[in-house]
Amino acid sequence: MQGKGFFVRPKKEIFYTTINNNMKRVFLFLWVLWAMLPIAAQVTSVRSGELWPDDQGQHINAHGGGVLKYGDTYYWFGEHKSDHTSDALVGVTCYSSKDLLNWKNCGVALSVSDERGSDIERGCILERPKVIYNKVTKKFCMWFHLELKGRGYNAARYGVAVANRPEGPYKFLYSQRADAGTWPIEFGSQELAVVDTLNARNFKESWTPAWLKAIGQGLYVKRDFGTGQMSRDMTLYVDDDGKAYHIFSSEENLTLHIAELTGDYLHHTGRYTRVAPAGHNEAPAIFKHEGTYWMITSGCTGWEPNEARMFSAPSIWGPWTQHPNPCRGPRADKTFGGQSTFILPVDGKYIFMADIWRPRHPSDARYIWLPIEFEDNKPVVRWQDDWKF
Ligand code: GAL
Repeated sequence: MQGKGFFVRPKKEIFYTTINNNMKRVFLFLWVLWAMLPIAAQVTSVRSGELWPDDQGQHINAHGGGVLKYGDTYYWFGEHKSDHTSDALVGVTCYSSKDLLNWKNCGVALSVSDERGSDIERGCILERPKVIYNKVTKKFCMWFHLELKGRGYNAARYGVAVANRPEGPYKFLYSQRADAGTWPIEFGSQELAVVDTLNARNFKESWTPAWLKAIGQGLYVKRDFGTGQMSRDMTLYVDDDGKAYHIFSSEENLTLHIAELTGDYLHHTGRYTRVAPAGHNEAPAIFKHEGTYWMITSGCTGWEPNEARMFSAPSIWGPWTQHPNPCRGPRADKTFGGQSTFILPVDGKYIFMADIWRPRHPSDARYIWLPIEFEDNKPVVRWQDDWKF
């Protein structure tokens, strides 16, 4: 007899059919969810100039960047670029990888600030971030080129931030111009006597031979002596002895400066040298091979590519000698459409990293990663469509 009353037990087969249908629905729902997840295919080779998907299938957004190896992991830091502006709306991003091909998005390492008047206020210009690890303090130290919000490229400062973990979060410490009140180490009494005679007001016209000569002699070093030297495109370098250096475009981008950092990598010591005075170099990237320091730079044409330059020196303090363009292959006279940003040492070899800028759609900027080869004991960067480590 069928039961009556409040609780009627369903028939066994109806009970199981209901459960089966519910489970089917759950499985279907989970499958749809899974199908909607972005699936990143494995990256198996470097294809410079192409989209480079991260672990979520999104093009890596870390421009003007550099890579730090910590333990067995590589950390790639760079500028987050938005779709319609090159101003910093997000900050410095970080990606991690063990094979240099497949990168996990670790999010924002240093965030711009929403505080009005902050040096790194959202909408500032924050470029070319680099991170180095200090073995003594066990801190990760980030330096970058900073332009204050609403002031174009006039501030010409460097910024410093610090973190306890490679991927951050980084705490912004300060920003300023470089080496106020100090002369480059090569300025002895003779050079200073010449500097004494220089006066920016005497030069009505730029780019004349007399003006270029005066720049070389330190016209702008003198002009900015009190307030500090301009600091724009930059990189960092840690030498074998643990000493670190900040290398940056100074003097209205006319001369590179190499400035020694304090033991905690958070300040300049005040010791600095000038490289290629009046040579108009930007985008410095540096490495050391068998005791020789090599530096690849660009000329100054904004977001437009130009011909790469190369320098070498037996010591970080110089003397620096210029060599011909190291690039080989299609558009080698335009750095393959890119601009240098970093040189990454990997197991005794070196990878040249550059950016192909897309100022109208900044987030679509592309990366050039190419191996550095040596020919006649000089670095050569040869274009390859597709290569593996
Ligand atoms: C480039 C520089 C970039 C960015 C750009 C702005 O020369 O390397 O980092 O500052 O100019 O025009």
